[in-house]
Amino acid sequence: MSFSLAEIIKQRQPDQYALHSRHLNSKLTRVLGIIGFDKIWVKGEGAYLWDAGGERYLDLLAGFSTYNLGRDHPTVRRALEEALELQRPNLVKMDCPLLAGILAEQLVARMPPGLDTVFFANSGADAVDTALKFARAATGRPRVLFLDHAFHGLMLGTLSVNGGEQFRKGFGTLMPGFDKVPAGDADALERELRKGDVAAFVVEPIQGKSVHVPAADYLPAVQRLCRLHGTVFICDEVQVGMGRSGRFLCAEHWGLEPDVVTLAKSLGGGFIPVSATIMRRSIHDRIFNRLDRCEVHSTTFGENELAMAAGLATLHVMDEERLVERAAARGDRLLAGLDELRSRHEMIADVRGKGLIVAVEFRPPRALALKAAWAAAEAAQKGLFAQFVVMSLMRDHHMLTQVGGPDVNIIKLLPPLIIGDEEVDAIIAAFDAVLTEAASVRGSVWRQSGRLIKQALSQ
Ligand SMILES: Cc1ncc(COP(=O)(O)O)c(C=O)c1O
Repeated sequence: MSFSLAEIIKQRQPDQYALHSRHLNSKLTRVLGIIGFDKIWVKGEGAYLWDAGGERYLDLLAGFSTYNLGRDHPTVRRALEEALELQRPNLVKMDCPLLAGILAEQLVARMPPGLDTVFFANSGADAVDTALKFARAATGRPRVLFLDHAFHGLMLGTLSVNGGEQFRKGFGTLMPGFDKVPAGDADALERELRKGDVAAFVVEPIQGKSVHVPAADYLPAVQRLCRLHGTVFICDEVQVGMGRSGRFLCAEHWGLEPDVVTLAKSLGGGFIPVSATIMRRSIHDRIFNRLDRCEVHSTTFGENELAMAAGLATLHVMDEERLVERAAARGDRLLAGLDELRSRHEMIADVRGKGLIVAVEFRPPRALALKAAWAAAEAAQKGLFAQFVVMSLMRDHHMLTQVGGPDVNIIKLLPPLIIGDEEVDAIIAAFDAVLTEAASVRGSVWRQSGRLIKQALSQ
């Protein structure tokens, strides 16, 4: 019998969630069922997903910022088909692949001055881990500093620079000397840097979990301090880079010139995992410092032909469709519209972001009956109100969103950068409608609260 993926999918589709319960993450499977996200997705195109019933949903997660170009972009798909048709030798390993050279050249052209050397790997965590490892070797120092609430990945190296206890707890002692400093406090950072043993300071220019945008003078100040104390300044642009914030690199908002930049997620156009750690040659050459150490850091699938082809096509599409400018313009419209809602809906505490990374944060209502409903939800699980809103957006407005992180009443929006004014206005209207429902304890937003509180308390 010949192999047919379409046939396999057709036959096994009904088993999708049962297979995950049996062989993958059964807890996630349960959560998706509880919140009404256990859909059978059958198609993704542009900014939309379709379920098996033919219903269309606006995708405001974009694969956690992997689909900046939208899903199934024809130019990237065609580039991958062409790469396969050309039957080029891939992963020879003892060679220097052409496409990796061209993609490196094109990335370097988009970087601040001095960042001229690239290491390709497969994921965001790979890219950050590479940056940390290289910084230690380049400086001969052991320590790394990171911020409260930072998120740089969940492998052991990157978990060691994670600023959230929820992610860290349960995994034992992480990297010694990898220490958290308070966000926004340049003096606290300097106190640590002065000790002279800090290899690197790693920062997301806008923190992804909470969409925390730093004060205007913070990042320029920390860059200055890193320079002064010989510490490598790493901007982790895995989520906010590639145009998401309305600039190619988010660091451009503050005119930063970091020593290392990390990219991943949408660099592969949503088709192929690929990451890039882009750095000064002086850092790179401290690692690869002798002929017999020319492979002292590597990863098997780095520089693979399909990833490089996807990266080249992705950059082409970004230029051709002017996605950076579009993200800036649509982001302004979205932020302004959501901010206007804040004046009418008391439960919206804050609306913030840049370009198309946007957070809506909620706070307790003032009315007595609502206050009690909020308190019951919060007592069962912090951030449960935001979950109610996420569920309402999905059920009533066919919009896919997510709570920003553990224990927060924040919804984070990461739409594809291709969205138009029509989608932006639909998002604003949906939030308006859901928050109007939330203003009454009899409103549909609170309908699921009893069931969810029970689930939260029984876990
Ligand atoms: C800023 C940042 N760095 C690193 C990572 C890790 O990327 P990956 O999940 O591809 O390992 C993420 C993932 O969300 C991220 O947001």
